[in-house]
Amino acid sequence: MSTRPIGIGFIGAGAIAQNHHLPVYQKLRDEGLVDILALADVNDASVQATAERFKVPRTFHDYRDLLALDDLDAVVVCTPNYLHKQPAIDAFAAGKHVFVEKPIALDAIEGAAMVDAAHQAGKKLQVGYCMRFSTGATAVKRMVDDGKLGEIYHARCHALRRRGIPSWGVFTQKDKQGGGPLIDIGVHILDLTLWLMGHPEPASVSGQTFVKFGNREGVVGLLGQWDPKKFTVEDYAVGLIRFKSGATIVLESSFAANIAKDEFYTQLVGTEGGAYLNPRDIAETRLYREESGMLTDTTQFGLKPNVWHEGEIRSFIDAIASGKPSPVPGEEGLVVARILDALYESSETGKEVYL
Ligand SMILES: NC(=O)c1ccc[n+]([C@@H]2O[C@H](COP(=O)([O-])OP(=O)(O)OC[C@H]3O[C@@H](n4cnc5c(N)ncnc54)[C@H](O)[C@@H]3O)[C@@H](O)[C@H]2O)c1
Repeated sequence: MSTRPIGIGFIGAGAIAQNHHLPVYQKLRDEGLVDILALADVNDASVQATAERFKVPRTFHDYRDLLALDDLDAVVVCTPNYLHKQPAIDAFAAGKHVFVEKPIALDAIEGAAMVDAAHQAGKKLQVGYCMRFSTGATAVKRMVDDGKLGEIYHARCHALRRRGIPSWGVFTQKDKQGGGPLIDIGVHILDLTLWLMGHPEPASVSGQTFVKFGNREGVVGLLGQWDPKKFTVEDYAVGLIRFKSGATIVLESSFAANIAKDEFYTQLVGTEGGAYLNPRDIAETRLYREESGMLTDTTQFGLKPNVWHEGEIRSFIDAIASGKPSPVPGEEGLVVARILDALYESSETGKEVYL
């Protein structure tokens, strides 16, 4: 057990750091569990203001200066996807634990390098798949573990926006983001589904991506106006993932599509029951079964409100303090990255990709 507060530093202090991570770390600091030692961000004006707001004593332009701090135990990497790998590898080389925002990296090659670096350093790597910490997800996981679904042989998962192309950051640039909705929001629902299914081993992936809206002028932008000339990612992706167990997942993800409404859910289909879960809305947590000759639908009462960022961050700190394994290990983030790489490759080649 650690005897002093765990020293934390941030690499990247943009939207996710300010809106979700820093408020939780502030709470943990008040509880004496952590010290927030410094923020590193190349946007000097913004990082200064953020440090003042969250009472963080030091800021750096170059994250490597942050890594040299004596009391630093762990870093939270909240930079864009193309800047996950190098800061994480440098942090491991400096002997620090790493929490990296999702996805693990631009692709599986980068992700594998991070996992190797974590092993070599003997430090923890946690990937920011926060939706596992939704109270609805925790309940469905218990149903699965209790055998209420039987054998889960299929899952359908959707992360669909009708008109939700991001207008900020690098979310529409393939070289910096790695892809479109699939790597941004599809990863969340895919990771959640893999976790609920007990991480079956993937065998092959077949998929298709589309660009039908992002590169067009005059399309409605409910999340602001992006630049269609700089739109280099897909705006719709669909994939069929086959597992060595024989199970399958169908995944669909969009930034824009002519559909009735946004959808965010996973539906597990099992021999003894089915579960429907929208991790963002715990009211949408349901179990479907056949019992005593009757078809039954179970809805939830009494689930606690979601505090998923707090859940993932407390688990990270607990793993460091207690020596427990990472609750969302890099290896599991790497499986998601391998599936995504295969889906993009399948779309390009028109063939099923074997893993
Ligand atoms: N878990 C979630 O639900 C969730 C939600 C949103 C974003 N994210 C992830 O968080 C990451 C960041 O997303 P965001 O929305 O905060 O983006 P953002 O653009 O708001 O913030 C990124 C920050 O990184 C800084 N940065 C860029 N290059 C840097 C460098 N070399 N060194 C230090 N800082 C640098 C930028 O100045 C910016 O402040 C992405 O990987 C994204 O996928 C996760």
